[in-house]
Amino acid sequence: MVQNVAAFFRDLEPEDFYLLSGVEQGMRFSEWVQREKLPEYSSLTPEEITYRLDRCMEHELIERKTIQYEGYQLTFEGYDALALRSFSERDTIDGVGAPLGVGKESDVYEAMSFQPLALKYHREGYTNFRKVDRERQYTADRNHVSWLYTARKAAEREYEALEELYPAVSVPRPVDQNRHAIVMEKLDGAELSRARLESEQVVGVLDLVLEEMTAAYQAGYVHSDMSEYNVFVDESGITIFDWPQAVPTDHQNSDELLRRDLKNVYGYFERKYPTETPESVDIAALAADVTADELEAVRAYVEP
Ligand SMILES: Nc1ncnc2c1ncn2[C@@H]1O[C@H](COP(=O)(O)OP(=O)(O)O)[C@@H](O)[C@H]1O
Ligand SMILES: [Mg+2]
Repeated sequence: MVQNVAAFFRDLEPEDFYLLSGVEQGMRFSEWVQREKLPEYSSLTPEEITYRLDRCMEHELIERKTIQYEGYQLTFEGYDALALRSFSERDTIDGVGAPLGVGKESDVYEAMSFQPLALKYHREGYTNFRKVDRERQYTADRNHVSWLYTARKAAEREYEALEELYPAVSVPRPVDQNRHAIVMEKLDGAELSRARLESEQVVGVLDLVLEEMTAAYQAGYVHSDMSEYNVFVDESGITIFDWPQAVPTDHQNSDELLRRDLKNVYGYFERKYPTETPESVDIAALAADVTADELEAVRAYVEP
């Protein structure tokens, strides 16, 4: 089921997007943007604002709260619409398809272009923000950090890492980034967590994961959230994705994070494939070989 971007936007007019961008602007300064400020932020007349607010409320792109004043904020659908519009205007994508996955911190959809792509909306900060928001009762606007900012930073960090790593490391090819969203190559295959490897494939796959982690380290990054959920496997090999929390190798904790990543990967293989996975690997020694780019030594750990 492919939703055409043009169809998605059929009901929305350019002025609706002026309003959405106006609310977006205002959210840099407060969680709920005062209605009175909207004409200034969006370059629309007060009458036009009234009309656009109703339309955008109907489409659930914004929400309203009356505290000491009447305030508005973007829903994540509203923020998604702004990003999607940018991608569509610069011809990055022309359709959005079925969901590919829902992570703890994101929604990922298939996106259409001259080839199938993946569109990832970051949600970092959104749920946490909601909780904090309730607790502080809208009085602490001075210390306000919008979830828009947190989610956008995550998307920027992930995109930057992909650009640095691709193609030296097997990661999804980065295509575009806007606000809290990134567009990248759509991966085939299945998450490692769902794959059922044949006995004779196990060490080969483990070896590929270690080699890519080594290549990533040499390209300057430790993933820092390595698990069976962030690796795709297919006949042609493996791909490591989900990089927003990646840490540069010159970061003071990078080696500790590398050991944790290696431990997670090993732990998973030991639990799922106890017979095939080599026993009691010295993680610290392995990490030292990864950092030194000693591929032969790294391979030796998984040799049966
Ligand atoms: N490029 C991609 N191609 C296909 N599916 C993807 C792609 N990126 C992510 N997914 C799917 O979406 C899910 C969530 O993406 P992920 O980047 O891991 O975000 P999160 O930080 O929320 O875990 C993944 O587990 C995977 O199933
Ligand atoms: Mg993930």
